[in-house]
Amino acid sequence: MRNDKLVKVIVEDLSHLGEGVAKVDGFPIFIPAAMPGDELEVEIVKTKKNFGFGRIKNIINPSSTRVHPRCDKFGICGGCQTMSLAYETQLEFKEKRVKDSIQRIGKINTPVSTIIGMEDPWNYRNKAQFPIGINGNRVVMGFYRQGTHDIVNSTKCYIQHPTIDKVREVMRAFIVEHNISLYDEDTGKGLIRHLVVKVGFTTEEVMVILVINGEKLPHEGHLVENLKQVIPGLVSVCVNYNKKKTNVVMGSRVDVVYGSNYLTDRLDQLTFRISPHAFFQVNPEQTIKLYDKALEFACLSKKDNVMDIYCGIGTISLFAAQKAGKVLGIESVEAAVKDAKINAEINNIKNVEYVAGKAEVVMSKYASAGYAPDVIIVDPPRKGCDETVLEAMVRMNPSRIVYVSCNPATLARDLKILEEQGYKTVKIQPIDMFPHSAHVETVVLMSRKAK
Ligand SMILES: C[S@@+](CC[C@H](N)C(=O)[O-])C[C@H]1O[C@@H](n2cnc3c(N)ncnc32)[C@H](O)[C@@H]1O
Repeated sequence: MRNDKLVKVIVEDLSHLGEGVAKVDGFPIFIPAAMPGDELEVEIVKTKKNFGFGRIKNIINPSSTRVHPRCDKFGICGGCQTMSLAYETQLEFKEKRVKDSIQRIGKINTPVSTIIGMEDPWNYRNKAQFPIGINGNRVVMGFYRQGTHDIVNSTKCYIQHPTIDKVREVMRAFIVEHNISLYDEDTGKGLIRHLVVKVGFTTEEVMVILVINGEKLPHEGHLVENLKQVIPGLVSVCVNYNKKKTNVVMGSRVDVVYGSNYLTDRLDQLTFRISPHAFFQVNPEQTIKLYDKALEFACLSKKDNVMDIYCGIGTISLFAAQKAGKVLGIESVEAAVKDAKINAEINNIKNVEYVAGKAEVVMSKYASAGYAPDVIIVDPPRKGCDETVLEAMVRMNPSRIVYVSCNPATLARDLKILEEQGYKTVKIQPIDMFPHSAHVETVVLMSRKAK
């Protein structure tokens, strides 16, 4: 198929990245911002051997599930992919995606429960990372256009906590006022790279991190004063140093220029301290539902010895410790482990321990030493579990495994391996942590098969 060719298509499905999928003579075309059921005129912009990419030229007949997207940057900005799809339909597609992955990749036929969505799926995110650049003589801060490193300027985001918009605009005015240089990815020159903002939904505490390609942020005292005037909950302003040519947002070194090196938030009855490098689930309302489900599946009693692999700042572990005899958390980010230990103290929970290290290394060591938890809870990053981790889990022989995943494909791959090693998938619960995006979270209960 020729590039720039115009074709008429009916969109049949959504891809795992949230693009519409249509076929032209059996040849799949991925079309950003196209929704299933749309009849479209599409320009073919790129073709590969087995598929191509298109751009909407004209909506001939919109899908009955189309809604007007709230955000005028939708379709340009890569932050959201499905905002023009009715929320109920977004949920149906996410549930279907989990089912398809589990059946196709995992070869598992366990029924998938109805996805748990949000009642009000807006302003749910507690964290944003904005790349900052220059377009002409305008400071642009926002999100990358999907599949590129072009920054789409944002002044209002409908999925984030509203305070995040305020912080971004203070930062923009500060950069303009002091004429501070902005990082250019091509040349590696320019000072300011990224703005990271974290907000505590219950405490309303705010942490601001400015990532710079240099040693010193000029006028930092002025920035703090400007932020304090507009953000009453400001508890921390940090500078992070990243001088590498890399897509990784933050470097390892952080200096506090105002307040503390953490913010605090609460989930249910527990209080958590979160430092700049530590992971904290981005949708607090759904996190409570996610953890409730994980604990319901774990079905813990005070007799149970639990392992929480990829434990972050100890959130799941501390909920689990209230029901279990003992919990051991494993996490590779040292700052997160430090937070987890302090979080146990703050919440006066004593039956939990944390180990810093890569799960691949720590799990093998504990398995070889004969460590045998009754329940393993595992919540890896998108790439899923390393095979050595799965192997160590099996050697530890827990009666139940609760797998929390943000990627149905790697989840299904790992479940298949665990099924082959003596575990059965008992329950599968998708949860929508990321409305208007293509991402979906899933919690799975596996139990050891009788020998
Ligand atoms: C999806 S988060 C889950 C964190 C936590 N369970 C929660 O709900 O907040 C995954 C965590 O795994 C950690 N991690 C990534 N790779 C790791 C590895 N190889 N070994 C141990 N932890 C790792 C990350 O730092 C992150 O905290």
